[in-house]
Amino acid sequence: MGSPRIIMKLIVAGVHDEPGDVRVIELRHPRKPLLPPFEPGSHVDVHLPDGKVRQYSLCGDPEDLSRYTIAVKRETDGRGGSAWIHDTIAAGAELPVSAPRNHFPLRECDGPVLLLAGGIGITPILAMARALCRQRKTFELHYFSRSRSLAPLLGTLEKIIGSESLRLHFDDQVETRQDIHSLLLARPGGAQLYYCGPPGFMAAVAQASGHWPDGTVHFEAFQPPARDDAPPEPFTIVLRNGTVVPVPADESALSAIRAAGVLLMASCENGVCGTCECGYLEGQPIHRDAVLSNDARDRRFIPCVSRATGVLKLDL
Ligand code: FES
Repeated sequence: MGSPRIIMKLIVAGVHDEPGDVRVIELRHPRKPLLPPFEPGSHVDVHLPDGKVRQYSLCGDPEDLSRYTIAVKRETDGRGGSAWIHDTIAAGAELPVSAPRNHFPLRECDGPVLLLAGGIGITPILAMARALCRQRKTFELHYFSRSRSLAPLLGTLEKIIGSESLRLHFDDQVETRQDIHSLLLARPGGAQLYYCGPPGFMAAVAQASGHWPDGTVHFEAFQPPARDDAPPEPFTIVLRNGTVVPVPADESALSAIRAAGVLLMASCENGVCGTCECGYLEGQPIHRDAVLSNDARDRRFIPCVSRATGVLKLDL
């Protein structure tokens, strides 16, 4: 897996539209026949002209390194990145893209795999399903959408996955609807769960899988979970060398750490990409990210969005 610092100027080799206001973009290297390898669940950072960075899952075939494929849903109330891509990007355009990174890997396991996708959350799940098919693993993919006509990448999915593994759930087809709580009530055969989708879907799956054992539930979110309305409080960070870094209520821990002279990489600054992740040694963090598993929260911290109570000693 390549370093996120490597930025490649890739060429848009093809663009097509999918249902649900989704644009699929195929990227190739201008000179090299092969791009850096990636695993299912990986994403790339796309660097926009205004300096902002957006993360998009790679939904193509990891065995075909002649191209990367991303799918971008136009978010009308988003931060403008998807609208720029939809309105500007055409075949032949140049797009600065990072090497792939993976915070959502498929883990080795003997038991079955349960994949759940809501809408555009199908992008990393599609790459996982493709890999599981190839490995001849037992899995089930449940794809939730408001209707068949709004489900992106469904045609690709139906070509790759046999009907024995694919379950489609459309809000406008009562007979296909599936209650997420009853789906996740039991954990068949010690299954591992992977899920991705919009915030409401993420919250529903998180709640319905709350009783699954630690280490069996894996997810990728596009946005951090809704925050409580409590105003942020100031707190203090202590670095490994003893430097004390006050974090005012109106500043992020990331910004305070950087102001103290620590070089810490960041990308989304929204708690979803994991670039700024670091360890902590002591203290009580208030986790507000959408990256860390429950296990990881005992020792890892996402300073672009998370805060703490009192004093937090970081492993920096
Ligand atoms: S920069 Fe993306 S999670 Fe912090």
